[in-house]
Amino acid sequence: MLAFGWLGFYTYFIMNYRHFLILLILFLPLFFSCTKKAAETESIILGFSQIGAESAWRNSHTRSVQEAAAEAGIQLIYFNAEQKQENQIRAIRSFIAYQVDVIAFVPIVSHGWGSVLNEARIAGIPVLICDREINIQNESFFAGFIGTDSLQQGRNAAEFLLEKFEEENRLIRIVELGGTEGSSVAINRALGFREVLDEYPKFEIIFSESGDFLRSKGYELMHSILDKFSFNDIDVLYSHNDSMTLGAIDAMKGQGIQPGKDIVIVTIDAEQAAIDALIRGEINCVVECNPKQGSEIIKLAAALARGEVIPRVTFMLEDVFSEFDSLYYISPRGY
Ligand code: AHR
Repeated sequence: MLAFGWLGFYTYFIMNYRHFLILLILFLPLFFSCTKKAAETESIILGFSQIGAESAWRNSHTRSVQEAAAEAGIQLIYFNAEQKQENQIRAIRSFIAYQVDVIAFVPIVSHGWGSVLNEARIAGIPVLICDREINIQNESFFAGFIGTDSLQQGRNAAEFLLEKFEEENRLIRIVELGGTEGSSVAINRALGFREVLDEYPKFEIIFSESGDFLRSKGYELMHSILDKFSFNDIDVLYSHNDSMTLGAIDAMKGQGIQPGKDIVIVTIDAEQAAIDALIRGEINCVVECNPKQGSEIIKLAAALARGEVIPRVTFMLEDVFSEFDSLYYISPRGY
C-alpha cells in the first residue's frame, strides 16, 4: 500500500468512489421500489383465520402467511380457530365488525359458510379462501381461492401404486387414513385416489377411516387396524398426511412390522420427517402438498384491497417424490 504512494491511493479512492456511485445509481430504483411496495400495502388490514396447529405442515403454512404479510407491510389480524368451525365463524364476524380491508381464511370443512360469507359480502369486504376449498352455491360470496390441488394429490398417490404394482397380478389390499371429515382436502384426496384405481379391479380399499390429520390418531388407528387384520393381509397404507403416517409407522414398528417393506406406504405433505423416512426406505412415495402459500395469499389480498379482480382459482406448484427417483436433489423442506 505504501509503495502505492499518494497518486496510487488517489486513483484507488477515485476508482472505488466511482464504483460506489455506479452501484448507487443502479440499485437506487430497486430500493425505492421496495419501500414503495411496502408503503402501498402498509395501510391494508387483513383478517386471517387459520384452523389450528395440527401438524408441522400447518405451522409452516401459518409462518408463511405471517412472514409474507410482515414483508409487505400488511397489518395481519391472526386468529387460530383450534380446529373448530364455530371459532372461525366468530373470527370472520369480528373481522367484519372491525371493517378489515380483506378477509382470508382456511376453511376447516367445506360446508356451512353461506351465512357468514353473505354478511361479509353485504359489508363489502372481499373474501379470499386459502388452502382448502369450500362448497357453496353462490360463487359471488368469495373472490377467489388459493391453495393446493388435493384432487390431483389423490390421483398422484394412486399413480404411484399403479407403477409400484405394475407387475403383480393379485389383489392389492389398501388401508386408508383419511383427513378431517368434511374437509375439501380429505374429500378430494379420497376422490382422486379412487378415480384412478377404480379402473383397476386388482386394487381394493379394505379399510378407510378418518385420523383427523393428527399423528396421535394415526398411531391409534394403525394399532386398531393391526388388531383387526394380520399385516400379511395389508399391502398398502395410503395416508392423507405425514403426521398420521408418522404415527402409523410408530405403531407398525411397535409390532415388529417393517414400514415401506412389509407394507407399502404412500403419504401426502412432504414434511422433512417424511422425506427422511422415504430416504431410509420406510415410506415409498411422498406426494407434496405445498404450505408456502404466504406470498401468493398476500399478493392476492393486496390486489383485492385495491379493488382488483383476482383469478377464481390459483393452485400451488407441487411435486411427487418416490423410491423410483433420485432423492438426493430434494432440498431441505423447512417444515
Ligand atoms: O389442508 C392441508 C392439510 O392440512 C395438510 O395436508 C395437513 O397436514 C394439514 O393438516
